[in-house]
Amino acid sequence: MKKRILVTSALPYANGPIHLGHLAGAYLPADIFVRFHRLKGSDVIYICGSDEHGVPIMLRARAEGVSPQDVVDRYHELNKISFAEFGMSFDYYGRTSSPVHHQTSQDFFRVLAEKNVFVLKTEKQLYDPEAKMFLADRFVIGTCPSCGFENAYGDQCEKCGKSLSPAELINPRSAITNAKPVLKETTHWYLPLAKFQKTLEEWIATHPEWKSNVLGQIKSWFAEGLTDRAVTRDLPWGVPVPQDVAHKYNVDATGKVLYVWFDAPIGYISATKEWAQQKGQPELWKEYWQNQETRLVHFIGKDNIVFHCLIFPAMLMAHGDFVLPDNVPANEFLNLEGNKLSTSRNYAVWLDDYLQKFEPDSLRYVLASILPENRDSDFSWKDFQARHNNELADILGNFVNRTLTFAHRYFDGKVPALNELDELDRELLKRLQEAPDRLGQLIDTFQFKAYVREFMELARFANKYFNDKEPWSTRKTNPDSCATTINLCLQTVAALSVLSEPLLPFTARKIWRILNLGERHHWDEFKTAQLKTGHLLNKPEILFKKIEDEVIEAEIKKLKAALENKATPLPEEKIDFETFGKVKLRVAKIVQAEAIPKSKKLLKLQVDLGDEKRQIVAGIAQHYQPADLIGKKIVVVANLQPTKLFGVESNGMLLAASSDDKLSLLTVMDDDIPAGSEVR
Ligand code: MF3
Ligand code: ZN
Repeated sequence: MKKRILVTSALPYANGPIHLGHLAGAYLPADIFVRFHRLKGSDVIYICGSDEHGVPIMLRARAEGVSPQDVVDRYHELNKISFAEFGMSFDYYGRTSSPVHHQTSQDFFRVLAEKNVFVLKTEKQLYDPEAKMFLADRFVIGTCPSCGFENAYGDQCEKCGKSLSPAELINPRSAITNAKPVLKETTHWYLPLAKFQKTLEEWIATHPEWKSNVLGQIKSWFAEGLTDRAVTRDLPWGVPVPQDVAHKYNVDATGKVLYVWFDAPIGYISATKEWAQQKGQPELWKEYWQNQETRLVHFIGKDNIVFHCLIFPAMLMAHGDFVLPDNVPANEFLNLEGNKLSTSRNYAVWLDDYLQKFEPDSLRYVLASILPENRDSDFSWKDFQARHNNELADILGNFVNRTLTFAHRYFDGKVPALNELDELDRELLKRLQEAPDRLGQLIDTFQFKAYVREFMELARFANKYFNDKEPWSTRKTNPDSCATTINLCLQTVAALSVLSEPLLPFTARKIWRILNLGERHHWDEFKTAQLKTGHLLNKPEILFKKIEDEVIEAEIKKLKAALENKATPLPEEKIDFETFGKVKLRVAKIVQAEAIPKSKKLLKLQVDLGDEKRQIVAGIAQHYQPADLIGKKIVVVANLQPTKLFGVESNGMLLAASSDDKLSLLTVMDDDIPAGSEVR
């Protein structure tokens, strides 16, 4: 057994909120694993953080008209908070825009350069002559050479899943300007993965115990043959290629950054460094990363397999100072109500949204019950409701509640005596004795679904024990036996609380309070009856409230709506200055306003454009009273084709901001701007 355990979960891109697919893939299983090991007293740390580089973040920033730093700041905070509310127990949640990370990944790159690991290649790459930049990865869109899909990205076709390079796209166009890219020469550093294939194959062969879905994917990568991978890009956002290194190769590093998949996994190392610094033991990270006594486990989703099982290990091997992963228990994908999850179509359940309506433990329980451990699985709201109501509430919650209620009503809220045992009592004790090893073994070998199943099976058995023992009648006929029953039920509640902690951390803590126990426990603590006779209990509280149909229906409706909105949004269309210049915007003063008979929405306005008067019909009747509009200076499109609305001529269009059912006219701030002024 190795001395230390270092657990990581894939660093989520800080360009959107966390959804259920993330949780089921790389986060919840890792948290269960880590919490179990903490209860066992293992030396374990759990590292994660935001992945803040890469083209998707830049595209998002462009679409919103903000800087990439703004985007990652926002989602780093949001995701950190929702993870915490979901009970994710990271020891450290870092971010790849941090100075320690930039330094660490540049140092890593420098070491590989000094060891002559890289190959330098000068090639022609796609360049956007309008935006004046090279088009890496998702900055290029075009037709997939493999399936003909017309909106494939430069790094991957989302239709058929093939990984691509920008040059392979047919009819490429720029995602920024839509321009046809030209070829332009540039120089980049490559990791010669082909050279590593043999060593990687030998190393993977020492891990026959890895999950079969993971080994299967690795084998097919080997079968295709590994190819060299560029680890730098021409982009303005990322970790800069260190100038000193570039210099040795006689290359100008200006405008070049490390490829996001080169720097991101190094983020695990830099986050561990920051964790150690924060603890006041800045060298401690080395104990985890550079000592063969470490068991390194990467939790990821299946789309990350090649990076964590082949590319990052090759980087670690090439560097030489680091441990290699001991296991990479990747999960498959989670579907939603029978359809593929799609963030761009908002067909997803977002964690921050979920947490506003439901308890974290309910989702932890349901997701852990249906984890896509070996194949894709499906989340449905009806199933969520059923598992919450029929298992958490009716079995676990009910057992805890009836046991505690009974102890308060008939034993003064104290643990009653344990008297003579019968066969059924012994059977229950035997199960409590065996459960920690059995469940622990399942968790330690990444069989989380089986752990959840067997945990609930134990609660089910306990509930049945309560029924079969009928303490409500032995209370009168055989008080000693009744005391024994309730004593053993309370011992079982204690055992269940500890065994549930990795899965239901909030519920476990509630039970500890109800049982009047402290906060620190050991996984094996309740193998034997540990609650002392006479121990004082606190009042029970309801652990799980039933979830009603209406709440579930509303969630289902939301997903259906997203599904019906079939259009895949294309990257927002950009217009050039010339096009924009064709729209003539001018300040107009409203001189007259009246309702249009029979129309609820329209108002007829007479406006003054300085050198002329105009009549404009506008759909603002539900937002403004005609009298309130007189004298207001608004902004209108002055060169719009005239049209007729409700038989009334309209000669121009006014500008207004709208959101949901609100609407606000655009006005000019200073009154001394005359009517007719141009708006630019
Ligand atoms: N951000 C990547 C994704 O969401 C995962 C990065 S994992 C790391 O797919 F190892 F690179 F950090
Ligand atoms: Zn394709």
